[in-house]
Formats: sequence, C-alpha cells, structure tokens
Amino acid sequence: MKSPLSLWIKSQFSLLPNPDADRSQKYGNELRKILSKENCKEAYQEIQSWPDYKISDLISLPELARTLNFVDISFKDESKRFNLGSFKSLGGAYAVFKHIQNIVSTKTDKYISSDVLRTGQYQDITSQITVTTATDGNHGRSVAWGAKLFGCSATIYVPASCSQERIDAIKEFDAEVIQTDLSYDDTVRLCANFAQQNNHQVISDTSWNEYIEIPAQIMRGYSLIAQEAILEYFTRAFRKAIPPSHVFIQAGVGGLAAAITGYLWDLMAEKRPIIVVVEPENAACLYASAAEGILTKASGDKETGEVHTIMAGLDCGEASPIAWKILSKGADFFMTVPDDITGPTMKLLAKSPFTDPTIIAGESSIAGLAALIMAASHDETRQALGLSPDSRILLINSEGAMDQTLYQKLVTEDQSQ
Ligand SMILES: Cc1ncc(COP(=O)(O)O)c(C=O)c1O
Repeated sequence: MKSPLSLWIKSQFSLLPNPDADRSQKYGNELRKILSKENCKEAYQEIQSWPDYKISDLISLPELARTLNFVDISFKDESKRFNLGSFKSLGGAYAVFKHIQNIVSTKTDKYISSDVLRTGQYQDITSQITVTTATDGNHGRSVAWGAKLFGCSATIYVPASCSQERIDAIKEFDAEVIQTDLSYDDTVRLCANFAQQNNHQVISDTSWNEYIEIPAQIMRGYSLIAQEAILEYFTRAFRKAIPPSHVFIQAGVGGLAAAITGYLWDLMAEKRPIIVVVEPENAACLYASAAEGILTKASGDKETGEVHTIMAGLDCGEASPIAWKILSKGADFFMTVPDDITGPTMKLLAKSPFTDPTIIAGESSIAGLAALIMAASHDETRQALGLSPDSRILLINSEGAMDQTLYQKLVTEDQSQ
C-alpha cells in the first residue's frame, strides 16, 4: 500500500548544517541587548495582561510521531492567538504599545500602564500618533490591532501580491491600507520613505542600520511562544519535564526563528534543542546567508531569479540583520522546501490520515512540518540532524486559514500525482 507520506519522501529539499554553529558558545551580552530571558519575561508580563490573552495550545500528533518513529511531535498552535489568526499578534502590537507608552509617559512625566492607555484617558496624546509598516498581511494586522487597542492611527503598506482577504483582515481594525505595485522588499523601502516624510513611526519586523529597538521588541513578543511551550513541557505530567530535542521553524525575515532560538539559547545554553530553520526554496535568504557566511539576499528561482513563494509570510528576499545575528551562531541547520508541498502539508494537518487531531494551518505555517517529514524519511538526513526514536519535536502553527479562499483551494486540490 502507498504510504500517506510518499509525496514528502520523494520531494526535493536542501539541508545545510550551519558552518558557524557552536553550541558551546555562551549567549553573550551583544545578543542579550537584542533579546534576553529578562526582556522576554518583561514582554510576557505585559502581553499576558491584555484582554483575551490565553496560553496557546500545544497539540500532540501521536500517530504521525509513531509513523516517523519519534517520541512526540507537538504543534504550538498560534492560529487562535488573540483571535487574530497568527503569532504575529504578539510582536507588532507589543512594539506599538511600547512606542505609545514611551511617548505618553514622557509627555506626562508619569509611568503609564497599558490598562490606563486602553481606557482612552490619554487620547489627546495618542490620537496624534500614527504607526506604519510594510507587511505581507499578518504583521500589518497586528500593528493595526495594537494601534486600535492603544488609541493611535495606523497606515499599512502591502505589496502587489497581498490578497484581498489579507487586506480586509487589516482593515477590520480601522487602519488605512495602501497596496503598492511592488515586491515585499521594495514595499518596505517605500514605507520607510513615506514615514520619514509624514513623521509616522515605522513598526517594522525587520531591522536595518540603527533601526534595531522596535524589531527587537517584536521578537521579544514572539518569544512568548517559547516561554509558554517550555512552561508546558515542565508542568504537564505526561511531558515528564523533558524539553523538546528539536525545533523545526519556518522563517521569512527570521524574526520568529531568532526569537525562539535566542530565548532557548539564553535559557538552556548548550542543552537547548537543535534548531532547524526552514524556508521556501525560492525565498531562502537565511539559507543563502549561512552558505555565504554573511548576510546575503535570497537567490530566488533557479531560472528567473525571482523571489516568490506561495507561503506569503515567508516571501522575503532579505533577512533581518538582528535576527541573523542570533541565527548565524544559534541555528544548527538551515533547510529549504519546495512550494508544491504546501497544499499537501496543509491537508495532512486538516485531515490527518493518521487520525491525529485536526490543525488548521495556513500556507505560511507548514514549512517546519514539511521539512521534518522530508528529513525523517531519509536515513542520512535523519542521522545528520540527530533525529532518533527518542526525539521530541516542537513545531509552530504560525497562522490559521488567513486567506480562506486559498486555504480551501489548497486543501481540496488533488494531490495524488
Ligand atoms: C504565518 C507566518 N509564519 C512565519 C512567518 C515568518 O516570520 P519571520 O518573518 O519573523 O521570519 C511569518 C511572517 O510573516 C508568518 O506570517
């Protein structure tokens, strides 16, 4: 009988052991300024005080784990986070809050907490503030939500490729949305120029030159995923206080992967899980950077050089420099997966052939799982990654069905060929 995983077994992928990885290296002060146990804890304390905060589910897929011969595969399910559909709600909104808090506290000469800001008491100040960003969808939604929550305006720029459903999801929070006819990376530059002309504050999830603090705050917000997961590994009896051995994590500009890696590195030093960073093959800026040993743009499609992937949130040709700082030493492996595995992996989670629980995963969510199945199905790769029957794998469902039309199309397409 044909294996339900045959499509992944025959799929092409690339694996690169990080030539600069050194697991004995300490998590130093330079990295701590970007992200540390302490500043991540501060983000946790703040974000858990927001309305509708709830620990996201950590869902085990026991039958898939048994099939791939691991102890456990668990998915941290970010699809319901703050009812916004993705992990991004943790980052952009946190940076918006910090920005507004800073301005109001400075103007009033008092420390102003988030609950006070939410009452609208300082609306005369907050209504004068506009935050802005370029986005493929999820990050912009978080910034728009944060702006609404804390009482300022938001102008959000989206690239030509952004779908109407993703645009509508941002507009839900009263933001002005401007669609460009440019790529994501060019939209980032355009947004920065307009922000300078209009005195708007850019809330970007990628850093450049001296622009570091805001993308660092965004990453500290993302670190809640790792903080909550570790808490569960150590408090849920059936997990026996044994942390994950491996994290397979999808990357766009690398902020999410760096947040998870940096936090675990600072917390667990050389005992941290093995980190595998996964990108779509035509938007693999971190893989390219690791191969060159220096921050490098993605080479894109082999024939056209175009950087493009169906995994919209991962459609990035240039990595965030501060994320690269952490990943260049802290990630153990870089992998790429092809786009055509997207629908089948979403379907595998939506309708498990192994009777595992259902997970609704969007197109930018599945690269980690796709890479895991491919790696686990090849003896050499399995060995190279240190995967064994004792392995406990942590994955992140970084978004739900943010684009319903595309979701339905991808999970219902015939994948038998
Ligand atoms: C659903 C989803 N997963 C993963 C990522 C990758 O995050 P990062 O760009 O921080 O690497 C994104 C980015 O937008 C995303 O939307």
